[in-house]
Amino acid sequence: MEKYIIMGGNPLSGSVRISGAKNAVLPILAASLLSSGVCVIKDVPRLRDVHVMKEVLEFLGCTVEWSGSTMKIDASKVNSIEISDFLMRKMRASNLVMGPLLTKFRSAKLSFPGGCAIGSRPMDLHLKGLSAMGAIIEEKFGFIEAIAKDGYLKGAEICLDFPSVGATENIMMAATLARGETIISNAAKEPEIVDLQRFLNNMGAQISGAGTDIITIKGVDELSATEHTVIPDRIEAGTLMVAASITKSNIKIENVQAKHMEAVISKLREIGIKITEEESGLRVIGMEDLKAVDIKTMPYPGFPTDMQPQMMALLSIAKGTSIISENIFENRFKHVDELRRMGADIKVEGRVAIIKGKEKNGLSGTFVNASDLRAGAALVIAGLAAEDATIIDSIHHIDRGYENFEQKLRGLGAKIIRVAETQRGLEK
Ligand code: UD1
Repeated sequence: MEKYIIMGGNPLSGSVRISGAKNAVLPILAASLLSSGVCVIKDVPRLRDVHVMKEVLEFLGCTVEWSGSTMKIDASKVNSIEISDFLMRKMRASNLVMGPLLTKFRSAKLSFPGGCAIGSRPMDLHLKGLSAMGAIIEEKFGFIEAIAKDGYLKGAEICLDFPSVGATENIMMAATLARGETIISNAAKEPEIVDLQRFLNNMGAQISGAGTDIITIKGVDELSATEHTVIPDRIEAGTLMVAASITKSNIKIENVQAKHMEAVISKLREIGIKITEEESGLRVIGMEDLKAVDIKTMPYPGFPTDMQPQMMALLSIAKGTSIISENIFENRFKHVDELRRMGADIKVEGRVAIIKGKEKNGLSGTFVNASDLRAGAALVIAGLAAEDATIIDSIHHIDRGYENFEQKLRGLGAKIIRVAETQRGLEK
């Protein structure tokens, strides 16, 4: 397995360009199944999760060409409606093809998504929505099979018990080719859902309301191919902003939409970080004194759960006691033990973490393990500030969601290398 070796203590400088958003591109690629022509998607990040979605589309019979950051998907020869256990286990977001397959090909069959390092992550809200639209759903032999009862889906009024991102996207995609109007209330409001609406409407769908908690979809007969540029990844941008903050650096983040990042920007400012908008991006200036803050993760526009581990790394060297409440996933504190190994003083009680900041030389390098994507990012951030070398194992999790992570950090002046099991480390 590959590892990162990081020599901490180097300030960062310069500028970095943010890639297209993982969580926007995955549903958009799934939605390209709805078109009969060739969709062209630009600013597609080269991530492990995107490779898996490409494999899923190819498994279903699509032809996919990926050159540079442009992907072309031809879904005219789809010949399967079933996703294997092997692909579902590689990535939970493979479940996003359910809505498109069901509405276009009348049926879909997926292996049940397994447990996940950050919680159980069921699909009940997706399935409730699809059955309200006339799908008959059977769960047996480890598979979920959905069939459009009357040979088509019909519009329905669906109120989600929780504003689930994936359920909102799956239902939205299913409703595009359903007969009649679908109204999703208590919908998720994430920017990635607005991007999906933009993509689907350019294909000929009639959707309004994405970005609010009520989304209305008028079903149409068919959708055509389109071209689309994916929005920048707000979590990658936030992660690099925290990297600059913990190393007390001055960097510029390019290709970022500040309005997607209000919760993160305002928390960083509360901690004492200076953030200003410049013509083509955001300038982040880390400060010597960091203040403790309290954070509660919430659905958008609240503070994103996907930034919680990285912020915890930063708060572990802030002055005072911070409290983080994780309200989205029940088991998203796997990074705590690893941060503790690096010297952080963190206690967990249920869904709450109490972080007593260690101001000066608070973190020291050691061997740690990335248990999931954002936990891995948090360890990289801690490693950038730690004394001496940090060695992070299981970095394939980080490759799921950060394009050229170590190259981008090295471009900013960080000392980070990727090594295979047998390679020797980095010189001091
Ligand atoms: C998406 C993001 C992920 C992010 C998460 C929350 C993608 C590909 N992934 O994941 O990075 O961390 O949003 O912002 O966009 N739930 C149910 N039943 C369901 C669906 C969800 O109980 O049918 C629960 C989940 O267990 C979880 C919460 O709702 O506790 C949020 O999940 P959801 O918003 O669906 O997240 P994902 O779409 O899986």
